[in-house]
Amino acid sequence: MTGRPLVVVHRDKALLAEASAARLATAIVDAQAARGEADIVLTGGSMGSAILEALGRSPLRDAVDWGAVTIWWGDERFLPAGDQDRNETQARSALLDLLPLDPARVHPMAGSDQAGSPEEAAASYADQLAAAAGGGYSVPAFDVVMLGVGPDGHIASLFPGHPALSATGSTVGVHESPKPPPERVSLTFDALGRGVQLWFLVAGQDKADAVERSLGGAPRDAAPAGSVEGTSATIWLLDADAAGLLPKSC
Ligand code: 6PG
Repeated sequence: MTGRPLVVVHRDKALLAEASAARLATAIVDAQAARGEADIVLTGGSMGSAILEALGRSPLRDAVDWGAVTIWWGDERFLPAGDQDRNETQARSALLDLLPLDPARVHPMAGSDQAGSPEEAAASYADQLAAAAGGGYSVPAFDVVMLGVGPDGHIASLFPGHPALSATGSTVGVHESPKPPPERVSLTFDALGRGVQLWFLVAGQDKADAVERSLGGAPRDAAPAGSVEGTSATIWLLDADAAGLLPKSC
């Protein structure tokens, strides 16, 4: 438990993306100063891409030792490798292709041309996570887990009322996702909760209700975003529209 989450509100989506990119660069630099490397978990969705694009433009990009950054994904759309709708493809074109990353440290989830089913892709990702985790854990202690939030309160590919919410282990194959495409692979709550810092990145008026319900303590089944926290910090990074229904004291 990390206590009350920190809520940070920026004027608009563009500023939220710039500020979060700066925060991400700093968190990576801090992790590298502390332990020589950093593990970060990327999110799909428009906020995920906006932050990566902002980091690509930022001078802070050069503050990071990119060869010592390990990249994971919180979820993936189960589509062929290279498909434009894959979170991996979008992250690569937003930022990763510009960076001197070590390819051995980049861990995309398997595509539908590489695995026979979302479950098979999930199992192979669980193996990769376990191989990277030390100390008897099945998932590394990610320095930063970034999560976009849907208007329904979903995070990664964990949707309200969906059976994947109760998955055990570190990963889960998802079918019949209400957000297309229907087949996906996701980290579970247990795996996301291994994040030292967990960041929710949310912009837009259509998300205000989900933000209000999540921070207001709605149950996991109704607002998945509200039911996971980082081991050290949980931070809601919002634009003013997404924060519109929060009480002023938040
Ligand atoms: C995905 C996601 C998903 C996303 C949210 C928010 O694969 O689509 O990882 O959880 O982050 O739906 O997306 P937006 O930032 O585009 O609203």
